[in-house]
Amino acid sequence: MSTSSQELQANWTRSDQYHNAHLIPEDPILSTALQNSDDAGLDRIAVSQSQGKLLHLFARSIQAKRILEVGTLGGYSTIWLARAVPQDGEVVTLELEEEHVKVASKNFALAGLSEKIKIIVGPAAQSLETLRPSFDLAFIDADKQSNAIYYQHAKRLVRSGGIIIIDNVVRQGLVADTSRTDERIEGVRALLRAMKGDEEVDATTVATVGEKGYDGLIFAVRK
Ligand code: SAH
Ligand code: DHB
Ligand code: MG
Repeated sequence: MSTSSQELQANWTRSDQYHNAHLIPEDPILSTALQNSDDAGLDRIAVSQSQGKLLHLFARSIQAKRILEVGTLGGYSTIWLARAVPQDGEVVTLELEEEHVKVASKNFALAGLSEKIKIIVGPAAQSLETLRPSFDLAFIDADKQSNAIYYQHAKRLVRSGGIIIIDNVVRQGLVADTSRTDERIEGVRALLRAMKGDEEVDATTVATVGEKGYDGLIFAVRK
């Protein structure tokens, strides 16, 4: 008998919650940040708790001081990242929507992180043009159609030995289903084509299941 997608999702959510209960302490600031995003009507598409902590640990593990994020939303992932950098470090986060920036700014103030975070409002492809090296880590998590453009900028901006992480690249396995052609899936495929044989990075895709379903991220080291 096959398992329904609802049953699968319930299992994955229960698993995340079980593990999180052991490894990730309750955090009123992060919970409030999500609540503020909900209250403002933002989509519930922030990284999960365990993914946020993973980003934080990646940043800590390379002693990142400067981090670039593409796609802020309500700033949930930004908070995880900003907590990993020292007081004189910085997270530069790029966001198109003024309304999202308002919510994120409020959340950064709540978290006591306003001084470490710089938000640039506008289309990320344009904002990226204004940035200069170097960053220790880039997290790409905005409109998926532009992934390849964001990736090229990330390569330009991230130092040798730095990390580039790209969210939502598995999409229920559908990126590999060649009968599917929606533009977000095509955006991931264009990214993969750009990365194929690219001698400037070493990369791998890690598929994930959990509260956010079946998806995955690309983890790349800038050579
Ligand atoms: N990183 C966030 C989630 C980001 S959701 C977290 O995990 O908490 C994706 C965000 O990208 C949305 O806020 C959306 O408004 C923004 N976005 C979409 N297109 C964009 C563009 N062209 N430039 C900048 N941001 C964009
Ligand atoms: C969507 C965007 C994301 O960054 C994500 O992690 C999940 C979903 C979306 O646009 O639906
Ligand atoms: Mg995402």
